[in-house]
Amino acid sequence: MNANQFAGELAGRHVVLGLSGGAACFKAAEFCRLLVKSGATVQVVMTEAACQFITPVAMQALSGRPVYVSQWDARPDNNMAHINLSREADAIVVAPASADFIAQLAQGRAGELLALLCLARPIARVPLLLGPAMNREMWAHPATQRNLQQVINDGAHLLGVAHGDQACGEFGDGRMLEAGELVEELIAFLAPKPLLGQRVVITAGPTFEAIDPVRGITNHSSGKMGFAVARAAREAGAEVTLVAGPVHLPTPRGVLRIDVQSARDMHAAAIAQVEDADIFVATAAVADWRPASAAEQKIKKDGSGEVPQLAFVENPDILAEIAHSPRAQAGDLFCVGFAAESENLKANAQAKRVRKGVPLLVANIGPATFGRDDNALLLVDDEGVMELPQASKRVLAQQLVAEIARRVSGLDA
Ligand code: CTP
Repeated sequence: MNANQFAGELAGRHVVLGLSGGAACFKAAEFCRLLVKSGATVQVVMTEAACQFITPVAMQALSGRPVYVSQWDARPDNNMAHINLSREADAIVVAPASADFIAQLAQGRAGELLALLCLARPIARVPLLLGPAMNREMWAHPATQRNLQQVINDGAHLLGVAHGDQACGEFGDGRMLEAGELVEELIAFLAPKPLLGQRVVITAGPTFEAIDPVRGITNHSSGKMGFAVARAAREAGAEVTLVAGPVHLPTPRGVLRIDVQSARDMHAAAIAQVEDADIFVATAAVADWRPASAAEQKIKKDGSGEVPQLAFVENPDILAEIAHSPRAQAGDLFCVGFAAESENLKANAQAKRVRKGVPLLVANIGPATFGRDDNALLLVDDEGVMELPQASKRVLAQQLVAEIARRVSGLDA
């Protein structure tokens, strides 16, 4: 996990991190470290059971603040740690949340400081997020599922559990999410939701056009921008499907990913996915041409010095086709194109927007951005151009999603 991956993303946020008892407490240490690296201030509160798994000293060292365990802690002037701690927080995250702790929440019990402060929190203002961690049988038990449902009905937000090896040696559901996944979930939870209820389809990355079973034609697109747009759209509340060419990038949490190779595969997947979508964003660097026929066997040198002659045919233009579909033309599908140019950015982008038939086209200098983590964008629509100056693809993706949301809600109005 790259600790700087979330740098600054939780700046100004105050998180109460609660640990209840479970082997996953070791992951809470890393979670705490990542929260601090993300710019959050973190106040750790532990149950007695959690102290059996990791010491308050370790959590104090990682959070930079003394840890609270007991509701009888005499440090607060008013001796009301549960009130003070819960009112300062932008969010209370309990991870690990044990089966017993969830049962306490379901019943509104307040026998220990952590459960007490969850109960005492101003429910409309301070969200409670749970990262459960337990054995798969405990997780699947009707009592746990019943308690969880009750806790969710009472306003808590479930961060989900992972599937895999468990500390007890069994395998199944109930593992706590990894530290980085918890941070990503928290950032997403706290983000504004201008795309709530929208379904977004995004193409990303290069395509790979086979010459024979071992060779092909592709390009330098890394897919980073498309993946960043997918993450930002999901954080903004959308249901996101990412149609990805061959790239080595982790799938943003909560995003459905469909892997494809060739332009024709991407075309088929995108056409199927946009059928009930509200927004289509084409960030992929689709190969314009493919070899007219791919050899079934590897093309061998025959020693004569003759080189193979490749003939090409044009690939379908995914964006143009979708942008000219009846749903897009009727305004039911908002299409956004990208333009990778090597020169004359503005003029080429304006011409391409008209040619593709999209309301919004996002232009960038291809060779200057392929593979990099930052970029600068030019947004072109029928009103003119707008610059999004040099920034990380993460920030640009958030700005772009905000611009798309503004236009889509304008259309709806
Ligand atoms: N695009 C697409 N299908 C293609 C080619 C491009 O969906 N077969 C999309 C890209 O995802 C991007 C936009 O069209 O959103 C523009 O891609 P770009 O490569 O910049 O332009 P081209 O259409 O290929 O035009 P040219 O190569 O002449 O610049």
